[in-house]
Amino acid sequence: MASVRQSALRVAQSVPKTVDPFAAEVIAGLAAKPKRLLPKYFYDAVGSALFERITQLPEYYPTRCELALLRAHAPAIASLFPPNCALVEFGSGGSKKARLLLGAAATIEAYVPVDISGDFLQQDCAQLRREFPRLAVHPVVADFTSPFSIPSQVAALPRVGFFPGSTIGNFEPHEAAKFLRHAGVVLGRGAVMIVGVDLIKDTKILCPAYNDAEGVTAKFNLNVLARINRELGANFDLTTFEHHALYNSKQNRIEMHLASMRRQKVRIQGTTISFRAGETIHTENSYKYSVESFAALAQGSGWSPLQVWTDGQFSVHALRRSDEK
Ligand code: TRP
Repeated sequence: MASVRQSALRVAQSVPKTVDPFAAEVIAGLAAKPKRLLPKYFYDAVGSALFERITQLPEYYPTRCELALLRAHAPAIASLFPPNCALVEFGSGGSKKARLLLGAAATIEAYVPVDISGDFLQQDCAQLRREFPRLAVHPVVADFTSPFSIPSQVAALPRVGFFPGSTIGNFEPHEAAKFLRHAGVVLGRGAVMIVGVDLIKDTKILCPAYNDAEGVTAKFNLNVLARINRELGANFDLTTFEHHALYNSKQNRIEMHLASMRRQKVRIQGTTISFRAGETIHTENSYKYSVESFAALAQGSGWSPLQVWTDGQFSVHALRRSDEK
C-alpha cells in the first residue's frame, strides 16, 4: 500500500508545475548566464501604453522621423505596390503608420495587421473599418516571429509587407536575416516589403532616446518585472532594480538592462533566482544600421533593395523579393 502511495506521489511530483510558456521562458532566461528576458514580454496592456508614451517623448526621435518620412514619401512608396494588394503589417500596435500608406495607396484592397496583443488589435480594427470603409481588414493575433498563415480571404492577393519602427533592430542580425527570409515565404512571389530602420549616429542623440529625463523608458523596462509579479506571483522588489541603457559601439546596438542594486533572491513559482549586487538582466537590444549595411543584410536574406528614403537619422527601405524580375 505504502509503495502504491509513494509511486503516486512520485508521478504527481514529476508533472510540470506549469506549461505556461511565459513562466517557462522567464525562468529559463533568469537561470541563464548572463540573465535575460525576451523583449516580446514587454507588451502587456501596461507595457503597450508605456511604449506609446515613449514614442511621444522629446528624446525619442525614431517615431517622429519615421512618421515624417512616411508622410512625405507615401505616394512614392505606394507607387511600388502591386495593384489590389494586401498590406501585411508585422507587429502593428496602433496602426498609425499603416494609416499613412492606406491613405496614399487606393490600390490596397486588404490590411492584415499581425500583433501579439489581441485586445489592442480588435479595437484598432473596428476603428480602421470606420475610417476606410472600402478596405477589408483581417487581423491576425500571432507572434510574428513564428510562422503564421495569411487569412484565406486575402490568400489570392499579391502582398506588401510592412515592418516599421526599427523593430528589425530588436533582433540579432542573424535573426533579422532569418525573419526577412520567413517574411519572404509568408508574403510570396512578387512581394514588396517596407522596413523602417534606425541609423547609426552620435551617442549624444542615441543614448537619451533610451534613457529619457522623465523616466518613461525606465518604467517601461521595469514593467516586465511588475508583469512577472502580477502574472506569475513573483516577488521582485522594483525599488531595488534600475534601468540601464548603454550604447555598445562594437556591435552598433543600444542595450537595455535591469540592474539589481543589491545582492538578493527572488522567488518565481517555486524557483529561486539569486542576484549579485550590480548583476543585470539583459532585456533588449536595439541594433542600428547604416543604409548600406541594412541593404546588404536584406540582399543576403532574399530581398533586393529598390529604394530608400532617409533624413540622416532614420531610414525607410523598399525591398522586392529577389526571385522576381
Ligand atoms: N524598436 C524600437 C527601438 O528599438 C522601439 C523599441 C522597442 C523601444 N523596445 C524599446 C524603444 C524599448 C525604447 C525602449 O527603438
